[in-house]
Amino acid sequence: MFDAAEVERIRNDFPLLGHYQEQEAGGRRLAYLDSGATSQKPLSVLEAEQEFYERRNAAVHRGAHQLAVEATEAFEDARAAVAGFVGAGEREIVWAKNATEALNLVAYGFVNASAGLGGPEAERFRIGPGANLVITEMEHHANLVPWQQVAAHTGAELRVIPVTDAGRLDLERAEALVDSATAVLAFTHASNVLGTVNPARRLVDLARAHDAVTVLDACQSVPHFGVDLPALGVDFAAFSGHKMLGPTGIGVLYGRAELLDALPPFLTGGSMITTVDYQQASFMPAPQRFEAGTQPVAQAVGLAAAARYLAETGMDRIAAWEEHLAGRMLAGLQEIPGVRVIGPEEIGQPGDRLATVAFDVEGVHAHDVGQFLDERGIAVRVGHHCAQPLHRRFGVTATTRASAYLHTTEEEIDVLLGTVAEVRGFFLR
Ligand SMILES: Cc1ncc(COP(=O)(O)O)c(C=O)c1O
Repeated sequence: MFDAAEVERIRNDFPLLGHYQEQEAGGRRLAYLDSGATSQKPLSVLEAEQEFYERRNAAVHRGAHQLAVEATEAFEDARAAVAGFVGAGEREIVWAKNATEALNLVAYGFVNASAGLGGPEAERFRIGPGANLVITEMEHHANLVPWQQVAAHTGAELRVIPVTDAGRLDLERAEALVDSATAVLAFTHASNVLGTVNPARRLVDLARAHDAVTVLDACQSVPHFGVDLPALGVDFAAFSGHKMLGPTGIGVLYGRAELLDALPPFLTGGSMITTVDYQQASFMPAPQRFEAGTQPVAQAVGLAAAARYLAETGMDRIAAWEEHLAGRMLAGLQEIPGVRVIGPEEIGQPGDRLATVAFDVEGVHAHDVGQFLDERGIAVRVGHHCAQPLHRRFGVTATTRASAYLHTTEEEIDVLLGTVAEVRGFFLR
């Protein structure tokens, strides 16, 4: 948990927050409550990328010169740093463009294996009619559409674990839906709409009891609280650099080493092969077998700096601060007439809800709410947040979502609450 002075110190690490305050808003503070979409970057991340380009830029894993050796070291040190941040081994971390690509990498591994690629090792990933893939009703499209595609390619059935009215997973239904024909249980660790944190360990145990592969969407968990992926027992997990203070253009796939080595690659080409002739190619072991083509090297270096910044600040303290803000936001929103929180209205157990709160303002479209807030210096996200089926389940097409991070102040939450309280008076007078 932080105090106000510490949050102020943290804010000073983020050039955009200071710059915006001075230059763009005529001295008015920007309340950036859209970290769930993308986070702002501390100076140490910007400097790490710049330092790489100024001093160490070269093609990695290829050059026969000293600079290439240094660039490769920087790239692989970044992998080790990001691996350490989630408790993983270096070989278990694959770079991708973002979490979406990382999730597609796993999904298309199943498609390729099911089409007969990958040899005997890929047997584990071969599925067809009769098999089922289980996801949840609270998935972001990034962890929904790829599994739809796997179902379409293989004839497997797609099953969906429902969400309760309170915005939590219906675990009884989960137990009924996951069965001996389940090949994959893919679920989000934390919902980008509801703010719900799912009981990952319990879901992993359920999948393991049926020998199903688990795929965790960790996009909204890894940035906000300490996550040890091997301790959770998941087989695969994906997260994005840009949501955890890192650069855009880089995402991470974690996979248990033994599974990564057996999964057929999704992208093929340079830098991922051992030998090639005109008829066939053989692939390197993981992670290189999934890293075809020129990699996001400076971005990896920047992401490692972000992981270091988060670790030094303390993930437990970040989580405690965000939980404090979540409580304030939830209590305040519920006092405003005509405002409905979509998702858990309170924190049940510590750690079971993010400071990401989506809400509906009765009679006012979310886009109008967003514009009203923007005119008063409050940045939120509006729309379906890439979760259309989830919005439909709650009877709305769009919501307004405020999401806090380590630099969010209590005052920003109070300004949000005070401004939301004015919305209906303004639009419905
Ligand atoms: C829960 C969740 N999953 C997946 C994604 C996709 O992340 P990216 O767009 O960085 O691939 C997001 C981003 O909004 C998300 O919130």
